[in-house]
Parts: sequence; C-alpha cells; structure tokens
Amino acid sequence: MRLSGRDMCRKLALRCICRPARPARRYYTPAAPSTLKVLGTDYPADSYTNITPTIISKLSLQLHRQPAHPLGTLRMLIESHFPSFSHLSCLSPIVTPYQNFDSLSFPADHPGRSVTDSYYLNKDVMLRTHTSAHEVETFAKGETKWLLTADVYRRDEIDGSHYPVFHQMEGAEIFEATPSSMKKVEEDNEQLSAHLERSNIVIEDIPHITSTNPAQPSHDPRHSEIIALNLKLHLNSLLLELFGGVAGASKEEPLRVRWIEAYFPFTSPSYEVEVFFRGKWLEILGCGVVLQSTLDRANVPSKLGWAFGLGLERIAMILYSIPDIRLFWSRDERFLSQFTPGKISTFKPYSKFPACFKDVSFWLPDRPETQAKMHDNDFCDLARDVAGDLVEDVKVIDKFTHPKTNRDSLCYRINYRSMDRSLSNEEVNAIQDLVISHLKDRFGVEIR
Ligand code: DAH
Repeated sequence: MRLSGRDMCRKLALRCICRPARPARRYYTPAAPSTLKVLGTDYPADSYTNITPTIISKLSLQLHRQPAHPLGTLRMLIESHFPSFSHLSCLSPIVTPYQNFDSLSFPADHPGRSVTDSYYLNKDVMLRTHTSAHEVETFAKGETKWLLTADVYRRDEIDGSHYPVFHQMEGAEIFEATPSSMKKVEEDNEQLSAHLERSNIVIEDIPHITSTNPAQPSHDPRHSEIIALNLKLHLNSLLLELFGGVAGASKEEPLRVRWIEAYFPFTSPSYEVEVFFRGKWLEILGCGVVLQSTLDRANVPSKLGWAFGLGLERIAMILYSIPDIRLFWSRDERFLSQFTPGKISTFKPYSKFPACFKDVSFWLPDRPETQAKMHDNDFCDLARDVAGDLVEDVKVIDKFTHPKTNRDSLCYRINYRSMDRSLSNEEVNAIQDLVISHLKDRFGVEIR
C-alpha cells in the first residue's frame, strides 16, 4: 500500500475516519445541562456529550438541498449522471455508533469512535461522521442502486479546507451473484469502456485484486473482478463528466485520473481515486467492493456489489474555484447571488479582507497521568463556538513541558478574518478576550 490509512486521511477533504488513537473520555466537566434538545428531541447528556451550540445550529441547514447552492448543484449533477439510481438526501444526521461504526465492521478500538474525533449527543447517539453510516439500512430497505447525500460531522482542526461539518455523497449498486446477473454487469462494462475509450481521459489504473487488496473469501474472485471493474468504469465516467471541462489547462489536455490501493474497514478490495488538477493530484473519493458482512446485516446475503463515498466540498471548491470552505456557509448575497441552479460557474471573490492574528499562551492545569489532556480539537470547537466563522485557522505554535514543574504549556495562534467585511482590532480583541475567558472557565487553564 502506498499510503497508510492516516496519511491518506490527512490529504483528504472527505477525511477518512482513521485518526490517531485517543482515549474515549473527557478530561473536563463543564457545567452542562442534563438534557439537550436537538432537532426537536430531548437527549440525556452524559460524559460523552460534546456537541456544541455551533454544531447544533448547522443541523437543519441542509446546504445540499438548496438548488442554487454549489453543493446543491453538484448533488444534482451527480444524480443526473446516475438517472436510474434512487436519490436520497433527507436522512437525519443523528445516528447510533452501531450505524456509524459497528454495522460497517469497524473494530471496537477504532480511533474514529473517540470523543475527540466525533460529536456525541450521549454515549448511545452521535452525529454521523460519514454517509456510509446509512449503508445497511438503505440496502435493508431493498434499494439496489442508490445515491445518498448528507451533511457529516467530524471534530477537527480549523483551516481553509477543513470545517467540522461537510457533505458527502455515498453511491452503491448491488447485484445478484448469479452467472446471468454477472453477464449483464459485463455487458454494462463493455458499454462504459467503449465510451471512455472515445473520451479525452488518461487513466492510471492498478490491478483490481492483489494479495494486499484481496477479493473477499466468500466471493468468487471472477465476480469480484467484474464488480470492481464496473465500479471503476462508473466512477471514471462520472469524473470525466464533472472534471472533463475544467481539469486541464486547455481543452485539448486530457483529464488524468489515477487509482490507488486503499484500506477501509467495510470494503475489499478498496481504492482511492485522484484527479490531476492545476499541477497537483487531488484525492476525490474512496470506494470498493462492499464487505459481505454489511450485506448480510442488511438481509441481502445473496447480493454483491460496490460502493463509493465522495466529499462534495472538495469537488465544489475545484469546480467553482471557491478558495475557503467557510464560504459554503455564507449567507452574504455577494456569495449566494453568484450561483444559478444546475450551472457550474467560477466564483468571483468580492474581496479578501485583512487577517488579524491573536496568540494565547497558557499552562494546562495539573492532571494525573491517567487523565486525557486537552485536545487541539477541544480548542478549535471552543474558538468556533465563540467566534463562529470569523476564525479562518488555528495553529499550535508552541508546546512544551516545564522540565522542573512538569507543567504543560501551549500557545495557539488564531487567525481571524471575515469573509464579508474588515474586522476592527477592538472587535477582534473583544472576541479574543471571550475565547480566553471561556478557556479559563471550561478547561481551568492559567494564562501566561
Ligand atoms: N466513508 C468513507 C470516508 O468517509 C469513504 C468511503 C470509502 C465510502 C469507501 C465508501 C467506500 O462507500 O466504499 O472516508
């Protein structure tokens, strides 16, 4: 394998859930209410509860369902590429850890489960971290070819291409594992190949199945090959449709796509796909042959098939030339009025307003070794809660442990910048003061 799971996630706006291991417990106990209301339902809070008001405020926005919004248009374009598929886009973001992880065979100690990486309402209920969370229920409903678009939530650091809420589209098709059904897939493969051969696309492919990216033991390897090829052909033609017009510097330059061996807990073989854009390879999606245990759980054990998951912001940022992920959330008319339903257009920046950097250095409170330390994501959620989208990015600029006292010191640099206007120094100072006072209250830190 070329990259470790975590390396791959680092590069990916669709951000795979492989992360460094973190303890699944919190190190501080804010004075939280004992129940919380989310999308009209009350949930008892517990030691897992870490969803923030900022995140709750995003749950009902559904950007992917606004027709003129770049994410809405992108959804529609992909849906029209798969006209015979069911198009689902209204599923609640509130799921169980079973749906998000166990139903997809994630190991019990997978780092994505930790409270530092995912948002929990309480230990039994969380926000989906990926659209794959709905695979089992969708297959169980009898859907055999479907696209599912949704908002997904991950705790993360803040920068121009990461936001704690983003949008994914999951696509899947399953087939009866019989000779006649496989023959139909082969015919489909021939048609798709013929179309791609006539198109201006260069595909760097890899073998469908290898010893490190194997067919599943319960599959006839020939069936697995046919399904993997069908997946590749469908995705190559989707990428050709989406990027064909924009990928190269000139119209004559072909679209370059490359396939890479990957690992996901719920597919085998698994792949990632990259597109060459403005001199760089960009990771666009993850995919593979669906693990048979997923289909068994969905009560369709006689089927086999493929699935993919792609990050919509990543693709929309490229197609529309949108430079900062926060813009998708802007309600500024200068942003929204630029777009028409169903049409990709180049975003015209209305202005780049000045940045304002503020540092905060502090000592963490003394804690027994066994207790988890404040995580960077805790700091980012706090900053986002206080300053909203005025935070452009957050960086740790210093971290050390005092050799004598053993106390930990941290320094974060927050870059404040509005998408819509200039911020005054007084305004930013007031926000920074609030960040500091919340930091003291919530985490008991001592400002240096
Ligand atoms: N759910 C994965 C993620 O968020 C993406 C993905 C990978 C989806 C492989 C799939 C798949 O359906 O087959 O990183």
